[in-house]
Amino acid sequence: MSAWHRADGSLDPRKVRAAYPILATRPGGNPLHYLDSAATAQRPKQVVDAVSNFLFTANANPHRGAYALGTAATDAYEGARARVARFLNVPATELIMLGSATEALNLVARSWGRANIHRGDLIVVTEAEHHANLIPWQQVAREADADIEFIPVDDRTGEILWDRLDSLLKLRPKVVALAHVSNVLGSIAPLAEIASHVHAVGALLSVDGCQAVSNMPVSIPELGADFYAFSAHKMGGLFSGGGLWARADLLAEMAPIETGGDMIREVRLRDATFAEGTQRFEAGTPDASGTVALAAACDFLDELGRAAIHEHETRLLARVLRELPDALPDVRILGTPHAEGRAGLVSFSSDLVHAHDLATILDRRGVAIRAGHHCAMPLHEQLELSATARVSVAPYTDDDDLDALFEGLRDARAIFSR
Ligand code: ALA
Repeated sequence: MSAWHRADGSLDPRKVRAAYPILATRPGGNPLHYLDSAATAQRPKQVVDAVSNFLFTANANPHRGAYALGTAATDAYEGARARVARFLNVPATELIMLGSATEALNLVARSWGRANIHRGDLIVVTEAEHHANLIPWQQVAREADADIEFIPVDDRTGEILWDRLDSLLKLRPKVVALAHVSNVLGSIAPLAEIASHVHAVGALLSVDGCQAVSNMPVSIPELGADFYAFSAHKMGGLFSGGGLWARADLLAEMAPIETGGDMIREVRLRDATFAEGTQRFEAGTPDASGTVALAAACDFLDELGRAAIHEHETRLLARVLRELPDALPDVRILGTPHAEGRAGLVSFSSDLVHAHDLATILDRRGVAIRAGHHCAMPLHEQLELSATARVSVAPYTDDDDLDALFEGLRDARAIFSR
């Protein structure tokens, strides 16, 4: 099929790994088994080459220079926005390029939220949300004297109890905010179904798509969301960069929360009018190199094939779910027990060994996992856990990485069983 696939069309991680120079390094003297792609993905050479090509051939301030190089920079930036929009199947005119997904989620709350949430109104989020999709709404609720209610989670597995949504919707919330894929549970939310229930009561659905966009095919119009935020560095782009898709009519009525250069129509000493469309939300010099990198990351993910990526990762997650209970007999796995309902990650805890100790022991074999609350403290509190260990996978993850993981888990078991 291509340089990255086997004859049957499945992804061949051995071939894919060649695109990621960092995987050949030996941090701490060990081969690198990077199982923390949910925190930040590794960057393929194609992305770094695209950035250096932009910086060496088209670097100027977009939207400003009335000279050939300035036009090249504007074209590169706007072309990159159009590429990212195509990746998510939305019009480029509805895609705001920002510094991060955190900025995007804050923009929804601080622009749409502040204008539309009033005293006594209700905001609904899940108990599993990442802090970036929770705290902005807490602040809106505090300022407006509005309420927040929570879709609860199962006390043992953390699974979000979606069947509780309907009773919360009877309270007529203005907005429901949730993750497409939880960064702790790994479970995929049934968004289209949720959206139809949310819209039936006249509420909006705001979605944090950070853990979904790089791990599975995502076509925003099929999800029924009204806002959809995502992050570049989890897709193989640079650390800077992220975006917000907003429904066109909502975007048209939203006020900017940051002001300055490039987002204006006319400025007088005592007042100003603002540009139309996405430009109104992109104050200052745009992150042209980050957006060019993100477009190259989209190209690369599409070259690998998002369905093939999801299939590859599902197979790896199935192995993790299957073998974890043998490696750590008292393991508590969060989220769905089925790999099919997941994207990208598995979190777990063990009474035998604390997540931080586990991460340290695994590091001795070059296995990099994340341990902690993963920016979801309320979820961990609900589960009465101070921390969990999280294994996350990517197109470049292979069975050698999982072999090293399970060897490391057996080391930890032996040490703590003494
Ligand atoms: N939000 C990122 C994570 O889940 C940092 O690891």
